[in-house]
Amino acid sequence: MNMWIALVLATLAVGASAQDCSCGTMKWATCEDKPQCACHLLVGNNDKAMLKCNDLIPKCFLMKAEMYRASKGLDTRTIGGKQTEDAFVDNDGIYDPDCETDGKFRAKQCNNTEECWCVNSAGVRRTDKGDKNLVCEKLVETYWVRLQLKHKEVTGEMDANKLKAAITDAINKRYKNFDKSMVDSVDYDKASRTIVVDVKKPKGDRQTNLANMAYYMEKDVKVLPLFKDQGKFEPMVDNKKLEMENILVYYVDEEAPTFTMKNLSGGIIAVIVVVILAVLAGLAVLFFARRRQNQRYNKAQQREMEAM
Ligand SMILES: *[C@@H]1O[C@H](CO)[C@@H](O)[C@H](O)[C@H]1NC(C)=O
Repeated sequence: MNMWIALVLATLAVGASAQDCSCGTMKWATCEDKPQCACHLLVGNNDKAMLKCNDLIPKCFLMKAEMYRASKGLDTRTIGGKQTEDAFVDNDGIYDPDCETDGKFRAKQCNNTEECWCVNSAGVRRTDKGDKNLVCEKLVETYWVRLQLKHKEVTGEMDANKLKAAITDAINKRYKNFDKSMVDSVDYDKASRTIVVDVKKPKGDRQTNLANMAYYMEKDVKVLPLFKDQGKFEPMVDNKKLEMENILVYYVDEEAPTFTMKNLSGGIIAVIVVVILAVLAGLAVLFFARRRQNQRYNKAQQREMEAM
């Protein structure tokens, strides 16, 4: 009897020590338990970011690691990751960011080039691009993110209220330290299968980082989870799994961005293309009409010549 208890305890102890030193919130982390358990993430050649694995890893470190891994031909975001083009805020995509030691974005980013711009606390460009003398006075905080999710088709009825509760719950449980009170509203449109989640924190709050949560969710939906266990983001509604097929993240900063003009969105580009095509078609019609006229003129001239 005693022997059994001892054996069970021993197994538990072994299991615990083997499991203890790992990074639940980052699948690419390397952990060493020599003096004490410490995990890091490679974000450049010989550049290690130390991680706090009981919290979400800062987005700045994650982007840096992604750029580094891509440059080394390591797995990054390739599987299943179709980029949506309709996001109007972060349409610059990924770059190699400069991070503070605590993982915050530096206000000014240059992606290792001479061209620089200012970002918000989510690392998203909020000014026009300039040269390397550009001054970004401070890092402007993103205090509100809107997550626009689209779920896959489900069989049967989906109760809107239960869905909203399930989404709030999933955010609270999955993305660590995420207070339910920050989920400001969840709206659901059944017809388009769209869920719009507004996550807000009080202006001035520097404790919670909305960008990290949004980035984890983006990866969950578009590529693969960043979590070590690879568990999927699938809120349960009435014992039905709700799988997501798309996500769009909108950022709202404590101060309005200072773009001199909004980037040309797809819609405007389409209009410009149509106008250009119309003008070209018009020119072509004119050209051929003129040519036909000339031909007629030439023939007339020829006949006149023959008559002479
Ligand atoms: C940053 O540079 C990389 C190449 O080093 C490029 O692929 C990427 O598009 C750049 N990102 C931005 C936002 O300029």
